[in-house]
Amino acid sequence: MAPLRRLLLVLCLPAMLLLPPAVPFPAPGTDWAACRDLSQRLSRLLGTMKESHGVLDGVRLGGEEDSEGDCAPRIRCSDACDPSTLDTNSTNCLRRILQGLQHYQTVLSSDIFATHPQPELKAVLDELLGLVQVPFRSCRPPPPPPADLWARPLLQHSTLERLRSFTAVMSRVFTHGASAR
Ligand SMILES: *[C@@H]1O[C@H](CO)[C@@H](O)[C@H](O)[C@H]1NC(C)=O
Repeated sequence: MAPLRRLLLVLCLPAMLLLPPAVPFPAPGTDWAACRDLSQRLSRLLGTMKESHGVLDGVRLGGEEDSEGDCAPRIRCSDACDPSTLDTNSTNCLRRILQGLQHYQTVLSSDIFATHPQPELKAVLDELLGLVQVPFRSCRPPPPPPADLWARPLLQHSTLERLRSFTAVMSRVFTHGASAR
């Protein structure tokens, strides 16, 4: 055997033996436990946020929902986020979560939040975006149109409301994923 090959074998064999056993379903490189912890942190942050606009509950600006089209940052029944589908193939659900995270990151960085920046929320979203590993199918929602000053409090409120529901579902998904592994 050529010395180089022998050397490679000696060096690589221990590494090969250390490889983790094959996992039954394609676990993309997502760290589910870390995602679970972060999504719970996001939930807590959102829960403790004092909003001065409680009176705006349920108020929506017309057209707000429609503009998002297929990139809507909601998790729907068709997104394969139910436990049994998650156990077989988590790709579609993680994609939807990734899209949602990107959407909220874009909105939190837009002029809607210019007067009320949310550095903590953005930091947690950034961390989550770094952790969710999934083959990406590009579906970046268009950035929100410039928001009139008068509409900003309303848009901030409805964004946070929707981020809350999104986070609740995301947190359940990650909790399930972490416990199944
Ligand atoms: C999981 O679903 C994705 C998206 O539908 C698909 O591309 C991939 O091949 C599936 N993986 C398996 C192992 O079925």
